[in-house]
Amino acid sequence: MLAMRSDFQLLDGKLVARKLRDAFASRIDRLRELGIVPGLAVILVGDDPASRVYVRNKERAFQKLGLVSDVYHLDSNASQERILELIEELNENQKYHGILVQLPLPSHLNEFEIIERISPDKDADGIHPCNIGLMATGQDCPLPCTPHGILKILEHYELEVEGRHVVIVGRSNIVGKPLALLLMQKRSPGNATVTICHSKTKNLKEITSSADILVVAIGKPEYIDESYVKNGAVVIDVGTNRIEDSSVQNGYRLVGDVKFSSVKEKVRAITPVPGGVGPMTITMLIYNTIYLAEKTAALPK
Ligand SMILES: NC(=O)c1ccc[n+]([C@@H]2O[C@H](COP(=O)([O-])OP(=O)(O)OC[C@H]3O[C@@H](n4cnc5c(N)ncnc54)[C@H](OP(=O)(O)O)[C@@H]3O)[C@@H](O)[C@H]2O)c1
Repeated sequence: MLAMRSDFQLLDGKLVARKLRDAFASRIDRLRELGIVPGLAVILVGDDPASRVYVRNKERAFQKLGLVSDVYHLDSNASQERILELIEELNENQKYHGILVQLPLPSHLNEFEIIERISPDKDADGIHPCNIGLMATGQDCPLPCTPHGILKILEHYELEVEGRHVVIVGRSNIVGKPLALLLMQKRSPGNATVTICHSKTKNLKEITSSADILVVAIGKPEYIDESYVKNGAVVIDVGTNRIEDSSVQNGYRLVGDVKFSSVKEKVRAITPVPGGVGPMTITMLIYNTIYLAEKTAALPK
């Protein structure tokens, strides 16, 4: 048993993901009646084991719903030009409503230029600079998957955001920054007071200890222990870190950026790793692909 306290809630991302995916069925059917099957093209460069697992999980999730998901796997030394050319082809290919480039890319590649080349109308990850601009100004657009998934978890468990102090540790373009923009927006879920921390933040513990909602996305296994967390806070652990574990068959296990075992004793609610934010990220990728397919068919959401 994870916890017996009646005031404690495990934020089950798998459960929320399942509910959302069930609700996709009618939208997928409506598109099918028009002869449209939402399709995603994934570009994977190189052989990073974690990226391969993420891509395989995405493929499976799409296949389970009968959606198209094709992986374009390029060599780790693929040139910038080759990737840009491929994106141009995929932009034109009507089979695909969404394109995703699996990050991180090998260091010789210019990530910004690659993301920018994806048509904003096929931006399945919601991270094209045009869409980030639309999101920042509160317009309709595909939202970045992980931050969007976090909003859905908060909504599902009716965790109040308005007026709360949200501290986000990590300022990446795919998690920390867009999540801050979404949580401070002047509508629900939003209206939070947001503080962003990063590796140059001074007095990190002092700031995180004042959070009503603490989101951690730093990529450091179990870095945040109970001393960083206020009693009764809500904790969202985005971190996904592989650590060696010879007791399991594949030789590793996944842990978050938060020390779950001790932090859960102090907080009101927390996401586990695995089974928290991860399943939501894939679900919101499916959401975006359906949303983009509906846009091409000029269907209302
Ligand atoms: N579950 C999911 O679906 C999902 C999705 C995306 C990412 N992730 C995971 O989330 C983690 C973060 O990924 P990311 O791509 O957002 O991050 P990233 O690009 O690696 O950036 C890490 C951020 O954490 C900050 N940071 C690092 N060490 C810190 C410390 N000791 N104290 C305070 N801040 C610190 C960095 O600060 P600087 O900016 O100063 O360098 C940076 O802003 C990774 O484990 C990743 O695998 C999971």
